[in-house]
Amino acid sequence: MRSLPTRVTLVEVGPRDGLQNEARPVDAAHKIELVQRLQAAGCREIEVTSFVSPKWVPQMADNAQVMAGIVRQPGVRYAVLTPNLQGLEAALASRPDEVVVFGAASEAFSRRNINCGVAESIERFRPVVAAAHAAGLKVRGAISCALGCPYQGEVTPDEVEHVVRLMKDIGVDHCGIADTIGVGTPRRVQAVMARALRHYPPVEVSGHFHDTYGQALANILACLEMGLHTFDASIAGLGGCPYAKGATGNVATEDVVFMLHGMGIATGIDLDALVDAGAYISGVLGRAPASRAGRALLARRGGAAAA
Ligand code: HMG
Ligand code: MG
Repeated sequence: MRSLPTRVTLVEVGPRDGLQNEARPVDAAHKIELVQRLQAAGCREIEVTSFVSPKWVPQMADNAQVMAGIVRQPGVRYAVLTPNLQGLEAALASRPDEVVVFGAASEAFSRRNINCGVAESIERFRPVVAAAHAAGLKVRGAISCALGCPYQGEVTPDEVEHVVRLMKDIGVDHCGIADTIGVGTPRRVQAVMARALRHYPPVEVSGHFHDTYGQALANILACLEMGLHTFDASIAGLGGCPYAKGATGNVATEDVVFMLHGMGIATGIDLDALVDAGAYISGVLGRAPASRAGRALLARRGGAAAA
C-alpha cells in the first residue's frame, strides 16, 4: 500500500460555509470570536466570509465588519469568497490572504448558485483572478457538484475535468473539488480526483466534502491514499449551501482531526481546543455540535467531571 501523507492541511470553512446557511442571524461579534477560537486551536487556514450579494446571502452581509474585527495572527491565512469583480474589489479593502472563485461542474447548479452558466462564470472569474494576482493574492477555485447535482443528478468525471481545465486556463492556483450534496463514495471520489490531478499537482488539489450521506471521512481517507493532503472542514459540522436544499454541513473538523491524529497524521490542531470552539459556536446557535467526535469528547469530559 502507498504510504499516506504524514501531515494534512485543513482549511476551516465553518465561519463561511457553516454560517452562510443559518436561518437565524449570527452577530458579527460571535463570528469574530469563532475565528479567534479557531486560530487559538491551531487552525492556520480559515475561510472567514464571502463577498457575495447580500440579497442572495444575507448571512454574509457583515463580511467587511467581520474581516475588520478579527485579530490577525501571524502564520494564519484568511480567505474569502469572491464570485465577481465587484466582490473582489470589496474584498481587497478587507486584506484577505487568499480569495476563492466558485464554479460548478453542473450547468443547473451554476445558474442557481451564481446566476450564470459555467462558460459565463469562467468569464466572470477571469478578471477576478487577474486582479487578485495583481494584488499578490492566491486564488483557489471551488468546483461544486463534482460528485452529483441536486438539479441535474449524475455528474460525470468528464464534466468535472472540463471545469478544472477552464479554471487552470484562467490561472486559478488551486483546485477544490466539492461534493456539495455529499453523495460521493470513495472510488468515485478517487476517479474525480484523478482528473483534477491531470491539471494540478497534489499540493494544489483539495477535497470539500459535505457529510450529508455520512461518506466524508471515507472519502478523505480515499484521497489520502492518492497522496492528497488538503481538505476543507467545518467546525461542529456547521452548514450547507443555501442553493442545495437538504445539504448538511461540511465534514466536522473535530471528526477529521480525531481520525487523522488517530492515524498518526499531524494537523497542528489542538483537538481539545477545537472541541471547545465547536461547543462555543453550537451554544451560540442553541444546539449540540453535529460533530460526533466533538459530542463524544464533551460527554467524556462531563463524565470525568462528575466522577
Ligand atoms: P447577479 O444578480 O447575477 O449579479 O448575481 P449582477 O452583477 O447582475 O448584479 C445584481 C445586483 O447584485 C446588483 O445590485 C449588484 O450590485 C449586486 P442592485 O443594483 O440590484 O442593488 N452584486 C453584488 N453585491 C455584493 N457583492 C457582490 C455582488 N455582485 C453583484 N459580489 C452573484 C451574481 C454571484 C453576485 C449572486 O448570484 C450571488 O451573490 N450568489 C450567492 C452565491 C453564494 O454565496 N453561494 C454560497 C457560496 S458557494 C458554496 O457554498 C459552495 C462551496 O461551499 C463548495 C460546495 O460545497 O459546493 C464553495
Ligand atoms: Mg460547501
